[in-house]
Amino acid sequence: MFTANMIKEICSTGNFGIEECISILSIEDNELINEIFSCAREITDRFVGRKIYLRGLIEVSNICKKNCYYCGIRRDNKKIKRYMLQFEEIATAINFSYNVGFGSIVLQAGEQTSKEFISLITKCIQYAKRISNGQLGITLSMGEQKKEVFQQWFDAGADRYLLRIETSDPSLYAKLHPCDHSFTRRMECLYDLKEIGYQVGTGVMIGVPHQTVENCARDILFFKEMDVDMIGMGPYIVHPDTPIGAIAHNYNKKRIVQQTLLMIALSRIICRDVNIASTTALEVLDKDAIIKSLYAGANVKMINVTPEKARKHYELYKEKTNPSLLIAVKEFEEMVKASGFDVAYFAKGDPLHFHERKLSCQ
Ligand code: 5AD
Ligand code: SF4
Repeated sequence: MFTANMIKEICSTGNFGIEECISILSIEDNELINEIFSCAREITDRFVGRKIYLRGLIEVSNICKKNCYYCGIRRDNKKIKRYMLQFEEIATAINFSYNVGFGSIVLQAGEQTSKEFISLITKCIQYAKRISNGQLGITLSMGEQKKEVFQQWFDAGADRYLLRIETSDPSLYAKLHPCDHSFTRRMECLYDLKEIGYQVGTGVMIGVPHQTVENCARDILFFKEMDVDMIGMGPYIVHPDTPIGAIAHNYNKKRIVQQTLLMIALSRIICRDVNIASTTALEVLDKDAIIKSLYAGANVKMINVTPEKARKHYELYKEKTNPSLLIAVKEFEEMVKASGFDVAYFAKGDPLHFHERKLSCQ
């Protein structure tokens, strides 16, 4: 049985094994959970400060060659309208992000490997670098690609790459994906990205069917072992037109939100100087969870700047929020300030961990 003092003591060492992680993620007592959040926040203040970094999220296309069992834009979902933004539309969203003071943009799309797609992304990266005099940080989230493609985009100016492992347990991975989707291939991609020199982010979904607390605990140890720079974790949200959506009967929204917050806190306590996102999926399940996630140690928020007409089709899950852009930014800033944090404008917001990692390699 844990006490608040025991939590403080183990958090201060940062040395966690699987048993401690499982015990912490299993805590249900609210007072103890708050103790974990406050340890995580203290570590965040010490290692990354109280500034929240914004990223303009551009959902370039919802076309995807993959067929992940949980995802609404999987190849076999014929119910959604597929789109690909034109270069000019992406450029407008990049300009908006830069002018409004987001230090970075995130270009996200379903997995595509055509030459046209690869060149479009290259062109967008070069454009974003050019109009911002190299100031705008560029994150890509485009799934698994050949190493040459990762290299081409890096050479064009991309700084970061997000590729979620989804779960660090290969057997759970196999339950969530068709058999031609390979856990090993995803790991290879993560290693390629690191070798090229990207700031690398990964993450998992929380609350997906078949997942255990031990899986979640091992996911956090995986982040540490992979020495990643950024973590993006969100709750799984049921999408009815998917195979996993059809079997997600015991879905408990409140419990999944709480588990996500605990995962953020424990990731912060263990990984310390990384960037951790407060994800859109979390906001969708519980709007108040944005601030709760900051208290738990998140320090990055993406604001969706995808053109209105396309946004509704980027349907990883149902029930996306859709506030108007400037309201979203303004509302977010007010909410963040009222909670004792600050929004960092015109700041790229590199994860400190990346620079430390680079230094230790020299
Ligand atoms: N609920 C929550 N997150 C999802 N993703 C895909 N489908 C869902 C869903 N139904 C997440 C995956 C993927 C990211 C782009 O979106 O983790 O990596
Ligand atoms: Fe495609 Fe990513 Fe959805 Fe899988 S999770 S179907 S790779 S967009």
